[in-house]
Amino acid sequence: MTTPRDILITSALPYANGSIHLGHMLEYIQTDIWTRFQRVRGNKAIWMWASDAHGTPIMLAAQRDGIEPQQLIDAMKAEHEQDFIDFQLSFDNFHTTHSPENRQCAELIYQRLREAGHIESRTIEQLYDPEAGMFLPDRFVKGECPKCGTAEQYGDACEHCSSTYDATDLINPVSVVSGAAPEKRDSEQFFFKLGHFEDMLREWTQGDQLQPEISNKLKEWFEDGLQDWDISRNKPYWGFEIPDAPGKYFYVWMDAPIGYMGSHLHYVGEDQAAFDHHWASDSTSELYHFIGKDIAYFHTLFWPAVLHGSGHRKPSAVFCHGFLTVDGAKMSKSRGTFIKARTYLDNLPPEYLRYYFATKLNNKVEDIDLNLEDFVARVNSDLVGKIINIASRCAGFITSRFDGQLAASLPQTNLFEQSAHAAESIATHYENREFGRAMREIVALADDANQYIAENAPWTLIKQEGQEQQVQQICTLGINLFKNLVIYLKPVLPTIAEKTEAFLQVEPYNWSDSASPLTSHTIGKFKPMISRIEPASIAAIVEASKQDLEETAAPVTGPLAEDPISEEIDYEQFARIDLRVATITSAEHVKGADKLLQLTLDLGGETRNVFAGIKSAYQPEQLVGRQTVMVANLKPRKMRFGMSEGMVLAAGPGGSDLFVLSPDEGALAGMRVK
Ligand code: MSP
Ligand code: ZN
Repeated sequence: MTTPRDILITSALPYANGSIHLGHMLEYIQTDIWTRFQRVRGNKAIWMWASDAHGTPIMLAAQRDGIEPQQLIDAMKAEHEQDFIDFQLSFDNFHTTHSPENRQCAELIYQRLREAGHIESRTIEQLYDPEAGMFLPDRFVKGECPKCGTAEQYGDACEHCSSTYDATDLINPVSVVSGAAPEKRDSEQFFFKLGHFEDMLREWTQGDQLQPEISNKLKEWFEDGLQDWDISRNKPYWGFEIPDAPGKYFYVWMDAPIGYMGSHLHYVGEDQAAFDHHWASDSTSELYHFIGKDIAYFHTLFWPAVLHGSGHRKPSAVFCHGFLTVDGAKMSKSRGTFIKARTYLDNLPPEYLRYYFATKLNNKVEDIDLNLEDFVARVNSDLVGKIINIASRCAGFITSRFDGQLAASLPQTNLFEQSAHAAESIATHYENREFGRAMREIVALADDANQYIAENAPWTLIKQEGQEQQVQQICTLGINLFKNLVIYLKPVLPTIAEKTEAFLQVEPYNWSDSASPLTSHTIGKFKPMISRIEPASIAAIVEASKQDLEETAAPVTGPLAEDPISEEIDYEQFARIDLRVATITSAEHVKGADKLLQLTLDLGGETRNVFAGIKSAYQPEQLVGRQTVMVANLKPRKMRFGMSEGMVLAAGPGGSDLFVLSPDEGALAGMRVK
């Protein structure tokens, strides 16, 4: 036996200001399959990651919702973690970058870099928003491109001519936060001297650690020269304050990758040796990062340099994948293809998507398409029609005719040996992250098994005298071929593997169990494990994803200061709005909706069903019996949860400060308001 490998695996940390969508899931399912594969092979593999909880977008999102950043990141972390559990991700720790452990790691790394002379402080000119009272990150300023003059470009790069520049070069800049014209102000910042690591990086980036596409891309970046990296941000900022630098914070991308370490430190607790075992400069364990192509720069230049410069080990490899498209195009909210993890889970079991992604994944950096029609066809044909079908065709006879007993030997054919022999090449595909190849080889084995069963037709044989033993052997072989397919699919389909182990009445399988046949053994009764995907489920997902958009557009708007008065309407337009006093006769939570409550409104005889985005401010029971003003002639809108027949009026900055206005005492339901 070879000694088990010792592996620490990470996925890129999801930002704590938005829901998980299927694009994220592509990466996280890829990570999970690889991690589970390592474990089923007998290796030690731990998966450490976290919620990426810092940065300006999170600070502003919390402000907009009228809550503390801590509340926002706690809620998002809980939501994300539940999505991950329900997608059967087998991570060992999902922590947060806003943690004492991460602060400890970040400070240690910063201090070591500073002592080694890799940090330089410089005063630079930056854009300051006088109204919001803050320095503006590049993506929070828009203006005309200094090169080509295209309007509405962000402060870092032009989408039209692709040139990159400093935010201070933008022409007629405008703050995205307040709409004010920013001023230039001097401020002191801390820079990481990436150039100090040029030799190390040139060598490291051209080795086996990176995919060839990434190594090539990096050559271009070297030609452009390695720039100093600004790792500090000014107050107000949501993050860790830099030691000895009051009012200065670590830029989110400084402490985000350190979050891998922080998560691990949290996982090992007091056991410093276990931590050092993976992170010390002389560590012999393996370290792998799964990431998307958009964040390769951070992981292949900054991160190895930061690790190296602070006396830590470097990654064994960075595994970069492309982006997910749906039906051949970028995920789109209006087409209903921007699919949240939860929306998928509300409609279909996780293993279908896990399998489909596995059939598409490889070790390239190319984009991957989720074609919804192909998804249905693949799952129904491969999983249901070919793989599970083998067990359902053979198990019945074993149960009904042989009391659950498998034959003592297999029939004269080399099919089992062939299937056992495939273990190595399938393992190689998994190891190389060529999951699509692994799936093709597995399905080819299933084809052979089905062909064998069809040719030997146990259902015909069973009717002939004296063929009983034959049937038992054929079905025993069928079950054994199925067993091996399930072992090979175990990293992708953990629940089906578990159900199969229960059905076969065996201990959890390891990879090497594919070598030995299961004979003279009693198995349980076969129960169907999965059913076909109905196209209606896909339609429901697409429809619900379109409705998500509506829910986001529910009438909870931002603080008034950021909410300019809308375009003028004339009196005629105003007069057409029929405002009525209504009594709330019932109010209920809406299953699956984060923001909505379902209200029944009495308009003085007529009742209306209305979905209102006021859950952040009211418990349903607080609303019953109260009066509100509603738009009575709004065209009914079909929402995911039902028909909404009107709209209630509410006011306030949002979040928990939102008021359903009650009219004066004596107002009658149905009374016209104007
Ligand atoms: N917080 C950073 C990562 C910090 S790692 C130290 C971040 N977060 S993210 O939420 O935007 O993305 C998390 C991961 O999901 C990234 O690897 C990103 O590439 C990946 N994906 C996000 N959208 C994706 C697709 N549409 N398709 C495939 N992967 C995608 O970046
Ligand atoms: Zn331009």
